[in-house]
Amino acid sequence: MCGIVGYIGNRESQPILLEGLKKLEYRGYDSAGIAVFTEEGLEVTKTVGRLANLENRLSGDPLRGTVGIGHTRWATHGKPSDVNSHPHTDNSLKFSVVHNGIIENYLDLKEELMLAGHRFLSETDTEVISHLIAVEYDGDIVKAVQRAVKKMRGAFALGVLTEHEPDRLVAVRFASPLIIGIGEGEKFIASDIPAILEHTRDIYILNDGEMAVLTRDAVELMTIEGNFIAKEVFHVDWDIMTAEKGGFDHFMLKEIHEQPKAYHDTMLGRISEDGRSVVLPELKISAEKLRGINRVHIVACGTAYHAGLVGKSIIENLVRIPVETDVASEYRYRSPIITPDTLVIVVSQSGETADTLAALREAQRNGAHVLAITNVVGSSVAREADDVIITLAGPEIAVASTKAYSSQLIAFYLFGLYWAQTNGTQDEATVANILAAMQALPEQVEKILAQAEVIKGVAESISKHDSLFFIGRGLDYAVAMEGSLKLKEISYIHSEAYPAGELKHGTLALIEEGIPVIALITQEGLYEKTLSNIKEVKARGADVLGIINEGHEAEVAKSTDRQFAIPRTLPLLTPALSVVPLQLLSYYASLALGHDVDKPRNLAKSVTVE
Ligand code: G6P
Repeated sequence: MCGIVGYIGNRESQPILLEGLKKLEYRGYDSAGIAVFTEEGLEVTKTVGRLANLENRLSGDPLRGTVGIGHTRWATHGKPSDVNSHPHTDNSLKFSVVHNGIIENYLDLKEELMLAGHRFLSETDTEVISHLIAVEYDGDIVKAVQRAVKKMRGAFALGVLTEHEPDRLVAVRFASPLIIGIGEGEKFIASDIPAILEHTRDIYILNDGEMAVLTRDAVELMTIEGNFIAKEVFHVDWDIMTAEKGGFDHFMLKEIHEQPKAYHDTMLGRISEDGRSVVLPELKISAEKLRGINRVHIVACGTAYHAGLVGKSIIENLVRIPVETDVASEYRYRSPIITPDTLVIVVSQSGETADTLAALREAQRNGAHVLAITNVVGSSVAREADDVIITLAGPEIAVASTKAYSSQLIAFYLFGLYWAQTNGTQDEATVANILAAMQALPEQVEKILAQAEVIKGVAESISKHDSLFFIGRGLDYAVAMEGSLKLKEISYIHSEAYPAGELKHGTLALIEEGIPVIALITQEGLYEKTLSNIKEVKARGADVLGIINEGHEAEVAKSTDRQFAIPRTLPLLTPALSVVPLQLLSYYASLALGHDVDKPRNLAKSVTVE
């Protein structure tokens, strides 16, 4: 995820671009840059690090001009660095591009361009776009962009400038957001409304496959095929804070709703075109080394640890190799048995958690190969691990992790399948079947989100209790643990997650009249067993909410007081769905209690001390 902004008008563009980028920093902040038409021509200043670094650099040597584009980056292809920062140019330096998204076929395009003599400075997919546009240019930037875009596959929002036509700014949207701001004698582009709200409240929202050509006085809207279209002006009447949260009341709710996109983006380019295999070109571990691995340790903290619990089942199920899971702060002090044939998987949203980093180093000291699953390219964990799978959830702002957790599950599914293919532990048809079900997940999450109001009602009644239980078996138990943590973190209600079958060995003593129990019952093989455990708590007066599979309502009705059904998927994939109602439950419980949902007491988003 990245943020883009653009300006064409009569005012100095640099301050407008920088202010706009500040509002988009939530979309990424590992590097930033701007390109402006100055008296010298199209000039670019860009630098790795926070936006403040760019501001410092520009304060001594400003770019003066009334047309420009800017970008704040969240690295996907290529580490955060000066050269990998946007805007990118072609070899003639006459074309400049900012991009949000991923060009899936950039390696093929780059190879073709290199054979034709193009030189590339960066490791990014974006640089290919500026070269492609330059190649296609024959006097009309709009046609050049249209022809270039036709060759690209993936997701992109683009802002394009060329020195040949300094009075035009071209914007394109394909599966990454982009809006156009309409002012008097000035026009804007941006990834999101807050970036331009200070200047105008009248906008056009581009849809996928649409583009806009901006001059100071007009905006031409068309499809990327070049057919002109008309659009209604959207008048923004929210305040700036609401706008930053995309219309949601809290970042947490926004991030819960971003999960379909996070799933989609994390899978993008990692499933072969025929849908029958996983491709992870970023992995350096050889097939031979992977086949020789005989033990796996998954190490992480907090929510990431809970993703690891699901990861254990995925790997054991698909690859049949024993997996241990450890909380990172425990791992290094328990003298874990690590050999060169151990694969240690560290999981961390931020990639900066001190305990996780220490565990990674301990594993490497003992000769293990370390694979990191993280959301932040260029983070300490990403830099130090031997291999990295990046989750493409985009920056997560709320302290309670939601989309990062669920994207980590997607990364585990992809890696588990990749390993199963390599070791031959699953046949092609099974892999294809799981991949097809995975690709349906984003839409299925949307279905759950559409029923948020049902969960809100349950959350309000739960918020009146001091204590409650989450129960489940197998993968349901792993998800129950995450549901319980989420509730504790932001609602401050005490809760415990228990394996449903273990309850009767002690904790059942705590079940009394009216106590809420959230029971997950999605694992078909364990279905009847869990139902008997539910009967045990019901008999002692518990008020049971069942998280069940669609179609099971009638059977479960007898044993539960209320039910929430998730769409049907394969048993292995249910965590990617069943966690969503639990996230909503904790969100609405916190809201009902009047807590600061995004910044819960005593907690921090990134814990860089041991
Ligand atoms: C903190 C956060 C948790 C998070 C944990 C691990 O405790 O409050 O939400 O799960 O750190 O963070 P990481 O960035 O390593 O995933």
